[in-house]
Amino acid sequence: MAANRTGGSPRTRLIAGNWKMNLDHFEALTLVQKLDWALRDAKVDREAIDIAVLPPFTDIRSVQTLVQGEKLVLSYGAQDLSPHDSGAYTGEVSGRFLQRLGCAYVLIGHSERREHHGEDDALIGAKIRAAVRHELAPVLCVGEGLETRQAGAHIAHVLAQLDAALEGLTAAEVPGLVLAYEPVWAIGTGETAGPEEAAEMATALRGRLAELMGEAFAEATRILYGGSVKADNAAAIVAAADVDGALVGGASLDPAGFASLITEAAGA
Ligand code: 13P
Repeated sequence: MAANRTGGSPRTRLIAGNWKMNLDHFEALTLVQKLDWALRDAKVDREAIDIAVLPPFTDIRSVQTLVQGEKLVLSYGAQDLSPHDSGAYTGEVSGRFLQRLGCAYVLIGHSERREHHGEDDALIGAKIRAAVRHELAPVLCVGEGLETRQAGAHIAHVLAQLDAALEGLTAAEVPGLVLAYEPVWAIGTGETAGPEEAAEMATALRGRLAELMGEAFAEATRILYGGSVKADNAAAIVAAADVDGALVGGASLDPAGFASLITEAAGA
């Protein structure tokens, strides 16, 4: 991993666009092509910041073809995977299939999956293991709801989510792990945790990772913030202490806007 940060941080920033259930495979091709052009126009140093898109499953093959065919400097991944590798699991998608499509990342435990699909800690832990079996970097999403934040219990809540997801795993068993702190009250609402709040949680997460997995692992692990990140707040957020990038929903669906967001984050 290349160093691109001052202050001795060894972590390359990562900006990942979670498309959620938006854009079919034709639209995916258009977006990725336009995004690449916009990033070239803006002269974003692609070695200095990692950029990823996380499209719906049905788009991934098209994105792979474009990225590999045009040799784009862009990673991609999926929004979920099955905890199983193969078999009678109707509707599920194996990590093996994602690896075969060249995916680098997979989101695990996004709050929308926890909420709408009843994903619990045990399932999230199993999905992390499945991702690692197939050499996909798990992007573990954690975050508190509004009531928990208002009660002042957000740090305890999020650290408990981290403990539960990593239960029984050692550092060697989760290479490439990425954490994404996404306060549920900030997702798609236009509300965003300020840089101080993002930093407070990222620092707490890194501290707990050090306890669970050791200092070296914690120092190497990227911690993203997600929740209404836009071009105009991206720089302040990624400059916050212990925040290594952003997981972007709505603002990743417009190629010019997403390129501006990335440009801001790369320059912060
Ligand atoms: P928004 O950027 O649309 O708030 O979504 C955040 C998110 O859930 C990314 O995973």
